[in-house]
Amino acid sequence: MEHPLNAPDVDPFEFAKRAADAIREKSQIETHDIALTLGSGWAKAADLIGETVSEIPASEIPGFVKPAVVGHVGTIRSILLPSGKHALVIGARTHFYENHGVRAVVHSVRTAAAAGAKTMVLTNGAGGIKPEWQGGAAVLISDHINLTASSPLEGATFIDLTNLYSKRLRELAREVDPSLDEGVYVQFRGPHYETPAEVQMAKTMGGHIVGMSTALEAIAARQAGMEILGMSLITNLAAGIQQTPLSHQEVIDAGKQAEERISALLAQIVAKL
Ligand code: HPA
Repeated sequence: MEHPLNAPDVDPFEFAKRAADAIREKSQIETHDIALTLGSGWAKAADLIGETVSEIPASEIPGFVKPAVVGHVGTIRSILLPSGKHALVIGARTHFYENHGVRAVVHSVRTAAAAGAKTMVLTNGAGGIKPEWQGGAAVLISDHINLTASSPLEGATFIDLTNLYSKRLRELAREVDPSLDEGVYVQFRGPHYETPAEVQMAKTMGGHIVGMSTALEAIAARQAGMEILGMSLITNLAAGIQQTPLSHQEVIDAGKQAEERISALLAQIVAKL
């Protein structure tokens, strides 16, 4: 928890503003319109959505730490979209299981908001509960269940989470690919994968996707007033749904295999935002 955001007297929103100022200064882009967090399997989208005008190591931006996981990138990119808008691509996600605290988890989202972004695209690699989602399906997140027992909101901050994953943006995504299915994302703390019993619990609760990110970030994005699009790459069927044990390598491999296809899909969706 010795992350700079957790020091006494730190205001996480002030910190995000400082991070956004650093991005402005280094990228020379005054306002970013859209922000994307690219999770496992989605990284290539950054190359497809437009022209990279700046790439900054995350370690040079206040409050960002190097990603803990091999296979996750570590830079913040500014991309000029064909529409003339600018996208901020966050390749450095801090996961709740890294134990830097929830402020660190949502710092990138708050920074994106402070950089001007009105739309937050959150992507991840995740386990699927629906058996028909075999083979690297990309699915839309329709809602979430937050099982981290945490929140990025501090104090008596009561915020509505209805339509958190914008219906409008889901419909826009379906204009690109009408076959896109959707489901409820269940964020577990991790870093262990779920037990088959936990997957059954998630299913009984109404969940369809299990993972270790996104829900906390979406809450912070809503607090910041952003419109949210959430997408999961189903890298594997969740524990007990698939009969073989899960492995991080399997997740990485599935991501690599699907990367070209889902990144192209995401690029087409981003072009409509
Ligand atoms: N569970 C949680 N997180 C994941 C999974 C999973 O099955 N696959 C990829 N990330």
